[in-house]
Amino acid sequence: MHIEIQRKSETSLSKQIFQSIVDHIRSGLLREGSQLPSVRELSKKLEVSFVTVVKAYKELEKENFIISIQGKGTFVNIDESDVSNSKTDEPPFNWQLSIQDYLPRAQFSRFHHVQGEIQLSSSMIDPGLLPNQYLEKEIHKMLSENPRILSRYSEIQGEYKLREAMSNYLKQFDVPTTPENLLVTNGSQQGIDLIARTFIGPNDVVIMESPTYPGAIDIFRGRGATILTVPVDSDGMNLNILQNLCDKYKPKIIYTIPTFHNPTGVVMSHKRRRQILEIAKSIQCIIVEDDPWSEIYFDKKPPAPIKSMDNYGHVIYLKGLSKTLAPSCRIGILSASGSIFNRLLAAKSNADLGSPLLTQKSLLPFITSKKMIDHMKKLRTALKVRRDLSLELLSQYSPDGITWMVPKGGLNIWITLPNWMDTNQLLIEAKKNLVSFLPGSACFPVEHEKCHLRLSFSFMSELQLQQGIKTLCMIFNAEISSKKNNSPYF
Ligand SMILES: Cc1ncc(COP(=O)(O)O)c(C=O)c1O
Repeated sequence: MHIEIQRKSETSLSKQIFQSIVDHIRSGLLREGSQLPSVRELSKKLEVSFVTVVKAYKELEKENFIISIQGKGTFVNIDESDVSNSKTDEPPFNWQLSIQDYLPRAQFSRFHHVQGEIQLSSSMIDPGLLPNQYLEKEIHKMLSENPRILSRYSEIQGEYKLREAMSNYLKQFDVPTTPENLLVTNGSQQGIDLIARTFIGPNDVVIMESPTYPGAIDIFRGRGATILTVPVDSDGMNLNILQNLCDKYKPKIIYTIPTFHNPTGVVMSHKRRRQILEIAKSIQCIIVEDDPWSEIYFDKKPPAPIKSMDNYGHVIYLKGLSKTLAPSCRIGILSASGSIFNRLLAAKSNADLGSPLLTQKSLLPFITSKKMIDHMKKLRTALKVRRDLSLELLSQYSPDGITWMVPKGGLNIWITLPNWMDTNQLLIEAKKNLVSFLPGSACFPVEHEKCHLRLSFSFMSELQLQQGIKTLCMIFNAEISSKKNNSPYF
């Protein structure tokens, strides 16, 4: 376990240690029962005072993340009896834990699902709505007509024809680009990773929305970035706060999801898009504009991407194709210019020498035909029905005190519970009832707010949605009733 300490940060050292250990535990990187270093060892390793570590450990214990057992040590949320009953007095030694890693956080645990679970946690589209059969035929055709496709590398930048097709596709969003300015990545996730590897090192400042997409937090944390956050209101990032942070800390990157923001669903206004670009120009920093699903709008088309106004190469634009076409093809498109683009291309070469040729070629006929446009229309209609159904069910079954944002597009609804409720705990109960959601704490880069959750309405069938949301509301109701019964002041 590697704990990155930032001495210049405004967050206290004990809070940083607390946060880092919570991130490791929530990610599953530190498993239940793992032994933590002693206070003495950790204070020596991190070059912080004894008191700082004690304070962090006390807070972790108070929040039930760890338990200290007299004479044995400190363990991740372990059942005391398990340790007391162990045959030997020595705590079990796990040599693998003595190998230091540099992974502060990774939310892969949220991809583990048990069979039969109603996954309201997955920000993905119901496979029944995706063009699987068409793509399957294309892959067969491609392989039988040209089996040698498997014995070649792709161009590192990506197949020219796919870049050409995507450059035409992006014209509908007014994104000015050419095949030469596009890079094919293994999903947008790799796009974010390439950007972070290329431009972010320990203590570089990255500004993110709060809350934001957990997968991006994991990547920037992994590079040792100092992450500063800006809250999101109904028009997107709060630009006064952004401006103040930029003046004071000179970030290298501002990461934003302006259209149907993940997780809140908010759309950044056109005015703010223009202003954020002005801010980036004035301090010479990069904006990473992540756009996985702007095609999925339910009322009117969202404003054009920030990239459409970018005359000086400040914006790196990411258009993922996972959500709307085929997650397993792992194809995303990155648009950038100038030496920023050249350096990202070099990073792609280091990372994997190019994306798989088979999936690039298989998507091409779909993207270049009218099918792509028709498919997006179909998705908008089908997902609007699911969004409306979800909102109706929430209105009907959720108890008083629970609120949500109405998304005008995208795949998610952001729900806020009374602030004494902890969605990490509720998830345990929901999973027992075979329903999952994303606890909001995963989406906060710094302060973890526990009373939110993200419900994705796009992956499950309408029938499953009904079942899942009713079950969730039943759990909310039970929690609130039990609090009422146990508190004379409620
Ligand atoms: C905002 C956002 N960006 C990027 C990704 C990564 O998507 P992919 O790598 O599949 O394109 C996701 C996935 O959920 C996402 O929600």
